[in-house]
Amino acid sequence: MLEKLVETLLRTAVEHAGGERGLLIVPRGGDLSIQAEATTSGSTVRVRLCETPVSAAALPASVVRYAARTRESVILDDASARNPFSDDEYIGHRRARSVLCLPLVKQGTLVAMLYLENNLAPSVFTPARIAVLQLLASEAAMSLDNSRLYRELQEREAKIRRLVEANIIGVVITDFDGPIIEANDAFLDMVGYSRDDLMAGRLQWTALTPPEWHAATQRGMAQIRATGRCDSYEKEFSRKDGTRVPALVGGAAFEETRTHAVAFVVDLSERRRAEEALQRAHAELAHITRVTTLGELAASIAHEVKQPLAAIIAEADAGRNWLAMPNPRLDVVSEALDAIAKDGQRAADVIQRIRQLATKTEPRKDRVDVNEVIRDVVSLLRAELRRHDVVLTLELEAELPMVLGDRIQLQQVILNLAINAIDAMAPTVDRPRELVIRSGRLGCDHVTIAVQDSGVGIEPDDLDRLFNAFFSTKPGGMGMGLSISRSIVEAHGGRLSATPNAPHGACFYISLPAATPALERDWPK
Ligand SMILES: Nc1ncnc2c1ncn2[C@@H]1O[C@H](COP(=O)(O)OP(=O)(O)OP(=O)(O)O)[C@@H](O)[C@H]1O
Ligand SMILES: [Mg+2]
Repeated sequence: MLEKLVETLLRTAVEHAGGERGLLIVPRGGDLSIQAEATTSGSTVRVRLCETPVSAAALPASVVRYAARTRESVILDDASARNPFSDDEYIGHRRARSVLCLPLVKQGTLVAMLYLENNLAPSVFTPARIAVLQLLASEAAMSLDNSRLYRELQEREAKIRRLVEANIIGVVITDFDGPIIEANDAFLDMVGYSRDDLMAGRLQWTALTPPEWHAATQRGMAQIRATGRCDSYEKEFSRKDGTRVPALVGGAAFEETRTHAVAFVVDLSERRRAEEALQRAHAELAHITRVTTLGELAASIAHEVKQPLAAIIAEADAGRNWLAMPNPRLDVVSEALDAIAKDGQRAADVIQRIRQLATKTEPRKDRVDVNEVIRDVVSLLRAELRRHDVVLTLELEAELPMVLGDRIQLQQVILNLAINAIDAMAPTVDRPRELVIRSGRLGCDHVTIAVQDSGVGIEPDDLDRLFNAFFSTKPGGMGMGLSISRSIVEAHGGRLSATPNAPHGACFYISLPAATPALERDWPK
């Protein structure tokens, strides 16, 4: 429709005013754009619609811009003669003669511009012709503006329609008291009603809203009546089949009367389901973590109690053998029983300490002499060392500062490292099996312990995972020793690490903070 109008306008203007070429120019996005071009050859006028920016190649830009700015017509009887626009590139280049630029203005607004030229003759655009053109122009301006408004309205409506028909969210039009007037498929699907139900007026807010949501819904409507819009809120709808659907609702009134409103409705079922699934996953995760912790706890206890149990069995065997002799040496048997009691107590202590570790309670805070701890462990190891033909060297630094902690737990750590070292040297046959336990200082505030062997050594790939629970390369290994040991050392504020030992074997280092008055004071109770 607009195209037809433009074409007629331009054709009439060119034919009537004797133009050789005519352009219709409209303001577009802050600039000017050529919308149509009419050209004549002989007695025929051809009109072509286009969308080209105004440029010096197409028209005398200075003339057109002047007319657009001042809203005044520009008429040049002979553009080749001296005039205010003589410097214009187009005029010079095209040798323009008669030029006319007529702004079409409606209520002070520039709606379009008519540009005509005739390069064959001067003074083509006579006052009489211009008067007719002006009349034509004012009619055209009116129609052009109307069609612009119409087009804008159409575009806006298309956008809104797109939103409604895309059915991404539910859209509902309602008057406040009566049934829902209009709803898109998204909304109808959500509440399980058909379009026929809608047409028959069977969709009422009251029926769609379960009783406990009436108050919230009424608050929303009251807000729309009072302010023209309402904050979005969550509610539930009753479906036709009686089930419920959770939704987010928001709305706004139409115009000033506020008798009708449009509301959007977003289905929250999916989100609710996701939230519930997330909650279930959390609960499951918590359970798994608990079970894993329990599993590790059981494994840790089994691991740490193995050694005292083995000692108890050996002592009991020895005691029985003594008793079976013709003249049993009861003093030796009694010693064996003492040892059994001691080892039993040790096992009980170990269990107690591991429970502490698992519940993450702080270790005991005794002043412990690391060298004494090492000597304790050596006495527990004697039998193992002999059995495996291992030579032990102790390099203990005298005058070592004390550390703060739990003596039994620290014994466990050194015992685990020493037993691993003995295991690692089992395959060694071509060189001495040497275990070195060393104590020393690191700086002025740390005590170190090193447990070094001449065994199989550590694969570089394994260095990272040695300390993981259940990592073991041994056929009967539980893989708990290093994991327990690291937890204990870290609970003491220290570090446990491993390095390969040249040329053979491995070395495990412990560093522990030395007991200073400040540390004793700050140690968590
Ligand atoms: N001194 C060492 N030399 C070489 N490899 C070692 C040494 N100490 C530990 N490893 C490696 O680290 C792994 C884990 O040690 P960890 O003490 O945690 O478990 P494990 O000794 O295999 O079993 P267990 O739970 O019975 O102690 C071992 O299987 C071994 O491969
Ligand atoms: Mg071990």
